[in-house]
Amino acid sequence: MSQNFKLYSQYYDLLYQDKDYQAEVDYLHQLINQYCPNNISILELGSGTGKHANLLVNKGYNMYGLERSAEMVAIANRAKAENITFKVADITDFQINQSFDVALSLFHVISYLVDNQSLISTFQNVHRHLNEKGLFIFDVWHSSAVNFQVPEKRTKTLQNEIIHVTRHANPIINTEQNIVEVNYSIEVKDLKDGKITNIDESHPMRYFSRPEIELLAYATGFEVIHSEEFLSKTIPSVETWGVCYILKKL
Ligand SMILES: C[S@@+](CC[C@H](N)C(=O)[O-])C[C@H]1O[C@@H](n2cnc3c(N)ncnc32)[C@H](O)[C@@H]1O
Repeated sequence: MSQNFKLYSQYYDLLYQDKDYQAEVDYLHQLINQYCPNNISILELGSGTGKHANLLVNKGYNMYGLERSAEMVAIANRAKAENITFKVADITDFQINQSFDVALSLFHVISYLVDNQSLISTFQNVHRHLNEKGLFIFDVWHSSAVNFQVPEKRTKTLQNEIIHVTRHANPIINTEQNIVEVNYSIEVKDLKDGKITNIDESHPMRYFSRPEIELLAYATGFEVIHSEEFLSKTIPSVETWGVCYILKKL
């Protein structure tokens, strides 16, 4: 295993150590039961290191995760439960010889698709891989919250027994394109040998209003059956950063 790969996985796990994946999976299980009970097969888009998938199998689902980062898929495959497949794939362009009851895309993966063609292709791909009346559930950045709160510069510092990480985030908002370009500069210090690695990353994130998602759904053969704040289930407002949409295949 290369040093870079080790560093990346340690950094990723550290960054999201406080994220409550179990609470999210309980929430998603409840949503699936509410809108389409007895569903057992799930296609996950942008499955990352497989944390949701590994918990969802405990609820009785079969999981198939697609993720474009080969490093993330390698991490996911290291501690994989039964009834899970992880594959390296781009969600804007994939073909699996299988159909699913539910498609999930979690932690703002759809917001990574900043241009219309990528969004349309992804929604069409999901449509093609869903069974009749299948559900497509995803969370995205919410336009009224982004415009009202305006993303600010932030610094996050994290440490475990192996590394110390400082991450500066400098967001630049493009209100004409509904995109926030989040520019990260990350310093990772190896606590054993003191070696410092600097990483620069830019994540363009698109934010959405409900009418935009309705239009996208309409154009790709879905209907929006519900939207709510992710996890809290409250009505989306200017305080709501992440909105969860539940679409049904028509
Ligand atoms: C914030 S992470 C979320 C990962 C995982 N869903 C989670 O909740 O931990 C966003 C993920 O989306 C993946 N992603 C973004 N665009 C993608 C694309 N076009 N195809 C496949 N994966 C993509 C990234 O590689 C990254 O792993």
